[in-house]
Formats: sequence, C-alpha cells, structure tokens
Amino acid sequence: GEEAAVEALLARMTLEEKLGQLTQYRGRGSETGPRVPEGGEAQIRAGQVGSFLGVYGAEYSRRMQQVAVEESRLGIPLLFAHDVIHGFRTIFPVPLGEAASFDVAAVERAARIAAVEASAHGLHWTFAPMVDIARDPRWGRIVEGAGEDPHLGSVLAAARVRGFQGTDLAAPDTVLATAKHFVAYGGAEGGRDYNTVDVSERTLHEIYLPPFEAAVEAGVQSIMPAFNEVAGVPMHAHRRLIEDLLRGQWGFDGLLVSDYNAIQELMPHGVAATRTDAGILGLEAGVDVDMVSGIYLDDVPGAVRGARLDEAFVDASVRRVLRAKYRLGLFDDPYRYSDPRREAALTLTAAHREAARDLARKSFVLLKNEGDTLPLSKRQGTVAVIGPLADDPRQMLGNWVAAGRAADAVTPLDGIRAALGPEVRVLHAQGTGIRNGDTSGIAAAVHLARQADVVILMLGEDHEMSAEANNRTSLDLPGAQRRLAQAVHATGKPVVAVLFGGRPLSVNWLDQNVPSILMAWFPGVEAGNALADVLFGDHAPSGKLPVTFPRNVGQVPIHYNHKNTGRPPDAKDKYTSKYLDVAWTPLYPFGHGLGYTTFRYQDLRVGAARIGRGDPVDVEVTVTNTGRRAGDEVVQLYLRDDVASVTRPVKELRGFRRVTLQPGESRTVAFRLEPDALAVLDAELRPVVEPGSFTVFAGGSSADTIEASFEVVED
Ligand code: IFM
Repeated sequence: GEEAAVEALLARMTLEEKLGQLTQYRGRGSETGPRVPEGGEAQIRAGQVGSFLGVYGAEYSRRMQQVAVEESRLGIPLLFAHDVIHGFRTIFPVPLGEAASFDVAAVERAARIAAVEASAHGLHWTFAPMVDIARDPRWGRIVEGAGEDPHLGSVLAAARVRGFQGTDLAAPDTVLATAKHFVAYGGAEGGRDYNTVDVSERTLHEIYLPPFEAAVEAGVQSIMPAFNEVAGVPMHAHRRLIEDLLRGQWGFDGLLVSDYNAIQELMPHGVAATRTDAGILGLEAGVDVDMVSGIYLDDVPGAVRGARLDEAFVDASVRRVLRAKYRLGLFDDPYRYSDPRREAALTLTAAHREAARDLARKSFVLLKNEGDTLPLSKRQGTVAVIGPLADDPRQMLGNWVAAGRAADAVTPLDGIRAALGPEVRVLHAQGTGIRNGDTSGIAAAVHLARQADVVILMLGEDHEMSAEANNRTSLDLPGAQRRLAQAVHATGKPVVAVLFGGRPLSVNWLDQNVPSILMAWFPGVEAGNALADVLFGDHAPSGKLPVTFPRNVGQVPIHYNHKNTGRPPDAKDKYTSKYLDVAWTPLYPFGHGLGYTTFRYQDLRVGAARIGRGDPVDVEVTVTNTGRRAGDEVVQLYLRDDVASVTRPVKELRGFRRVTLQPGESRTVAFRLEPDALAVLDAELRPVVEPGSFTVFAGGSSADTIEASFEVVED
C-alpha cells in the first residue's frame, strides 16, 4: 500500500534527494514554451527537483518524466503543475463570473473539463481553486475567487475540487487541486496585493476559513499558503494555523506548496535573517514544497547537518510529496498523463466549447433593464457595436489563461454578426481605448451610432486590471469610456451597455442614464456567442452578483452580511452609521440579477415554529414566474440569529437553488438547515446553537426578500 511504498522509498533517500523532492522550479514559459529551465534536465537526473511549474505537453512531459524515471538514481517520477484556473485551453468565464452563475454543477463541470484538458497535456496538479473570500474590490485577485460570501465560496470551493480531482486521483484525467491562498489573502490592507492582514479570530473563522474547510472536506490534495501575514505571522511560517488547525483539527493529510518565492520572502517579512532561517521556518510550519526560491535544496542541508532543523520535518514533507505521486498513480505508470492521442482528442473540443458557452451565459448578470430594452429583436435594420471591448479577443479570456489562445476567442462583434446574419447591418467602432483616455475616436463612434437602430456599448476593464498585483484605487470605468458612453447616449438612440471586468465597477452614470446594463465579467472563449445568445433573447440572463457593487470606492468595505451595529443607518437620525455625501446602500447588492421575466416569492414557511437545539429546520418558499417568458431564478435563502450571545450579521446566505420556471409556473423550493447552519461561534469561538428567535429570508437578491421566523428552544 501507499504507506509501505512511501516508507521504503524514503529509507533509501539521501538528504539532498529528499530536499530535491521538496523543490519546485519554474518552466521557461514564454521564450521557449512550457519547457524546463536551463539546466533542468541535469537537475532531474541528479534528483534535485520534485516538480515543475509551467512545464507541460504530452510528448515533452513524457521525455522529462523518462529522464526522472530512467536516469535518476531513485527513479522517482516528477509532478508537473500549472495554474489551470478557469480552463486550460478551453477558457471558461473568470472564476468570479463562474460564481455569478450560482450553478454548482456547471462550475464543477468547468473544472472537470479543465482537468481533462490539462491532464491530457501531461499536467498532474493545478494551483486552483482560489477560495479566498474578497470584500475589497480594489484587490485585483477578487476576480479569481467566488466573491464575498463564505457559504457560496464554500459550496463552489468543494465543487471545483470535485471537478479537478474527480473520484479517482489515479485516473488519467484528474489532477491534484490546490485550495489557495491559506488564509485571509483577500483581507490585504487597502486592497494592495501581498499586503498586511490584520483580522480578528472571529472574522478568520466566520469568513475566511470556511471555504478552506469545505475544500478539505471535499478531499483537496494540496493547499497553498498566502503571501501575507496574519496578525504578525507570515502564513508560510504559521504553525498554529497550518499544523494545529489545518492538519490537526481538520485532518488535512495532503501537500502544502509555497507560493512563488514565498519561502525566501520570509526575509523581507522580517521573520528570517537568512535563507537558511527562512527554510527552517517554512519546513517547521509544514510547508512541504518550496516553489522556485531553491532554499530547501540549497540552504537547508547545512541546517539539518548542523542540528538546527530536525530531519523529521524534512521526512514528513517528503512523505507528503511521495504520497501525492502515489495517489496519482505515477509509481504504477509515470507516463499515464502524457498521452499525445488524448492530448489531440481532448483539447478544445466542440463539447468543451459548448460547456464554456453555457456557463458564460449563466454568468452574465443583468444589472438593470428598464422598459425591457433587452432582449433585443434580431430583426434590426442596423446595429452599432461600439467600445474598446467589442472586438478584442484577448480581453475576452481574462487573466490566468493557462494554454488559452486569443485566436480561439469569439469576440462580441463576431458573435453578434454570426447571430444576426447577413440581413442586419452591424457597424463597429472602437470609440476609445480601454485605459488610454484617447477621445479622438468618439466623434466617429457617434457618427456610427446615429445610423443605427440600437447601440450596444462594450465597455469595462482590460484583463490586466484585475488578478495578481493588479489593484486599483478607483472602481470607475477607466480612460475616456464614460465620455464615449455619454456622447453615444446623447444621440438619443436606444443604448444597451455590456460591461467586462474582473471586479465590481461603480458605473453610476450608466446606472442613471442607460436603460440596460449587463455585467459580462470576462466570459472566456465563447464570449461573443454567449453574449449574442443573451442579448437577442435565445437565452435569458440568470446570473446573480457574488459580490456587492459599491457606489464608489469610498464605501469599501461594503458587503451584504454586515453587522447591524448599535446605530444602524437611519436617514432621519444624524447620529447613525452612514455617510454625508453618498447613500449607505450599494449600487447593486449581493445576489442581485434580473432576467427577462419576473418572479414572485410567497408563502415562506418553516417546518415548525419551535425547534430543539439539535434539530434541523425545514424551510419552503413558493416561487412563481409572473412574466411572459420562461426563465431561471436563483432562489436564495438567508438566515439571522436575532439575539445571540455575540453580534450576528443582518443576514447570511445559507442556501440557494437554481430553478427553471415556465410562464405562470409555481414551484415550491425546499431547504433543510442543519443545526450547524444555525450555530454561532460563541465568545470562545465554540460553535453553539443558542435558544431564541431566528429569521429566515428568501428572495432573488439579498436586498429583496420575504421573511418568516422560528424559535429555537432548550430541548
Ligand atoms: O499559483 C500562483 C499563485 O496564486 C500566485 N503566485 C504564483 C503562483 C504560481 O503561478
């Protein structure tokens, strides 16, 4: 079995060979393609490397694996890892967009397809899902997660883990998933990536930790610590959270991989004076794999020989690396993931594209639709598609695109042209750049708009304005895009705005002036087709916001699950919690999203008015499609513990269900809240269900709900 094989191998290893297994180097990337770095083959042969980041290709990975297996002393196979975040070659919507679908099965399927493609190219390991809760839209990496809510974040974390890892890790189409970045990375000061995190134990346990726990429960095989410190301790040296909580309390038995160079960064953090000190701290904290710094291999042997580090720490980490290789089946067949036939057959298939199109459609959030401007009729004379995001394929993919290619992406202009056919005149102007502030093209865009029956504006951020290190102090449309929108709007033509971006955008002017706004995030390879499907009514939009859209950046942090405070905002009372210059409410709340029909919520009922502390609660609500079209609705269930021993959020998402309803159709949607859904963490952070009154809320948005209550009584 696994343990015997691992122990037998470990017993034969030199200290250097052990540390080699804990060492990960990065491929050469863009210059030569995903190949090992200069000198890499010699290092493989010498047993100085256990895994590579960004090295793949069925043929090539097979060759490198052969060097490891046939030419190194112990013949231990390599792991090939990569950031396969929202697709490998078939790029799906960015993760925040996927989250907006609230479609757990579709998100799992996207991860499954990503794993099928990635593993066919020789990869064994992805650095996804990112499960960081993000309440600060200035932070660029908000695009990589599931937004602000720990329940949605947990459900989707587990779904993504299942998708990547499948049910059998040794199958040739599964990869190790990595829940990252442990923990509270989204809590960086001022939204500045990599910055200091100072968070209460309560917020850590209620907000940031739950998605990691869900990933562990789903069997995630690897975890990446965060670049940041938490309250004075860098996460790559955080023994309490890694050893005591993650491995101890939660029983995580997988692999910890450092973030890029983060072992070395323990020095600038100011907790290690030398590289050796940094390596000791990392290994003692249980960080098994050193990504790129080379410290474990170069600087740790001396520490072990000089008795500064107990070799038992090294052995524990090596065991975890070997176990991962064992679980992937690499000791049975090191080449099972490197199969050129599978690579050719399973990349960017029609079925994968169709899944990407389906998820893109479900990810779009209709923020506003006055006068039912959308959907547009296909029987138009002339349509003007205007804006810097109308015909730029690279932008459609978003950031972190693995092996994705711009040439694979369908732009909005392409998609609209294909959907409307030759009878409709489709005009296009860029108007301005995304960020450059150039206004010289606006006049031409206005000229074009005047000839059209309807104008579709394609506005937003470019893909490098979100994701790692891409933070902003403004959530406004960049460059001269608002001026472009104003000039086009002034023509008096009907205008629909489609927004692209990796974060909430404060589009107040559009909200006040343009009848329809569709948030499209970065939709992936099928962007244009999915957009045409929705804009022209073949499919209705059904996404919901996984994150609050503020009116301006000064409102940040703003999230739906805030506390009530002792002085909740009250327009009639100055001495309450609000601003002088802007409303306290967001521009668009969490959970918001319209469709092409309307839904009525009625008869919210709780199974019993009084329940015991250990009992589950059954909740039902009747949802009716009151419009004239079929549509999907994401039914949301929130809960509040009205009076507890500690303060509670005004409401917290506890369940959601996507339903499809025909016009006039009613459906009773049932939820069961298990006791742990009712529990609060008491003053000592112990989960406890406290007697007293609870309120349940159901609706199609966090800000638009009906309520019912029940009582928990002593058994
Ligand atoms: O996986 C990523 C991580 O999220 C950020 N730093 C680099 C890693 C490897 O590319």
